[in-house]
Amino acid sequence: MEKNIKPPEQVKIFDTTLRDGEQTPGVSFSENVKIKIARQLDKLGVDIIEAGFPSSTEEERNTVRKISSLGLNSEICGLARIIKGDIDACIDADVDIVHLFVSTSDVQIKSTIKKDKDEILKISQDLVEYVKDHGIKCLFSAMDATRTDKDYLIEIYKTVEDVGVDIINVPDTVGISTPFKMYDLILEISSKIKVPIDVHCHNDFGLAIGNTIAAVLAGAKEVQVTINGIGERAGNASAAEVIMALHAIYGIKTNIKTKYLFETSKMVESFTGIKIPPNYPIVGNNAFSHESGIHAQGIIEDSRSFEPGIISPEMVGHRRRLVLGKHTGRHTVKKMLEEYGLYVDDNALKEITNIIKTLSEKGKKINDTELLAITESVIGSLPKEEQYIKIDEFSVMTGNKITPTAVLKAVVNNKIKIGANFGVGPVDAILKVIQEIIESNIRLKNFKINAITGGSDALAEVTIEVEDERGYNVTTTSAREDIVMASVDAYISAINHLMIKRKIDKNSNI
Ligand code: KIV
Ligand code: ZN
Repeated sequence: MEKNIKPPEQVKIFDTTLRDGEQTPGVSFSENVKIKIARQLDKLGVDIIEAGFPSSTEEERNTVRKISSLGLNSEICGLARIIKGDIDACIDADVDIVHLFVSTSDVQIKSTIKKDKDEILKISQDLVEYVKDHGIKCLFSAMDATRTDKDYLIEIYKTVEDVGVDIINVPDTVGISTPFKMYDLILEISSKIKVPIDVHCHNDFGLAIGNTIAAVLAGAKEVQVTINGIGERAGNASAAEVIMALHAIYGIKTNIKTKYLFETSKMVESFTGIKIPPNYPIVGNNAFSHESGIHAQGIIEDSRSFEPGIISPEMVGHRRRLVLGKHTGRHTVKKMLEEYGLYVDDNALKEITNIIKTLSEKGKKINDTELLAITESVIGSLPKEEQYIKIDEFSVMTGNKITPTAVLKAVVNNKIKIGANFGVGPVDAILKVIQEIIESNIRLKNFKINAITGGSDALAEVTIEVEDERGYNVTTTSAREDIVMASVDAYISAINHLMIKRKIDKNSNI
């Protein structure tokens, strides 16, 4: 691998979050959401947005048409089977590119299309011509290419090339390839076919990113990806990793504005409800987080010491974070207190660090509330903090014949705000009101409730994690007899602390 061929200098990014991504079990985007994601993908700089499968429903066709009419810089693509009606639906949806696909492996031909191979060649040829006659670009996919007989695969690509297809796609539909096999396959196809090659890799063995990159190193000029790697079964090649590996490891350019990768990932996370695991590369919460004292000390000196160095959180719109735990050292505690504008002497720092380590060893997670409480217990009272939001009064109503409702009056950023909302329960209702009146993109990331004592008067401990699209993240806890009060306390405290961090940060790198 990586021997004889010079990879392309630049690769096009074809995003299929709105098509293959929507085939993720349990995911369905409304028209509104599809439009929001399309705008974000355009802002991110993807070359092509596969907006959907226009023939699938009338609604889908209208949505794709709306996306086509947004005047985005990205080209808009629609999916079509080798059926004239599917192409007509794409034309009707005003797409720039028709993505024509057909199964070419024996197993899929037998089980799905039930046509013989010569018929498939003929129909594909006629329909590529049909697309081209309409003056529209055509991308042709031989579905299940990696399990297709090689001679037949080349034959079908040659057939569509002869009638003017613009680009061919090599889908690894069931994620069965490996980087070595993919590299060889793309080399072989490109020795026989002149049109540009695109790849579409699924992640059944966790190899989608590796296979996609191998294809590029063998000469593929376009790659199909999805945000957060969503898609059928185990998903598709994930955009952030493919793009950053191409950029940072191989020096291969794309048109992507990488600083929007994190916010795009967050947007898709919230619209799909599929949480990004913390250890997810590039955009995961821990991608630039450090707990160990040795690592944190190194990072504070020089971020290259315990990070790849060729990427930074800023490049992808993320943030570097120090995390408290049993491996924490004084450097981390000092830095975290400084994020709150707190400066303590060496003895106090040592004592705070020891308490954190002892508590963590016993399995306690130390969040922002605890860090500040421990600091206060060591140095005495902390300076009074600025309150971005201060509650004046609120009430919640709930019962068996009433939709849980909350009303709240608060001072937000020195202005009086009043809000009301419904929820599935009183806590949901009041947190929604708070979310609305803060008019900020801080969002609730995690909500956990614990009954500390037994009985109906148990102390409820609520832990809330909030974050914003810039990667600021705060976790707070509150314990009260009243679940609603505990939730409101923890939420307000988290928002106020995040605002303090934002204010104090002022371009500090950690
Ligand atoms: O996985 C696949 O083969 C596809 C095709 C439509 C390209 O999604
Ligand atoms: Zn697919």
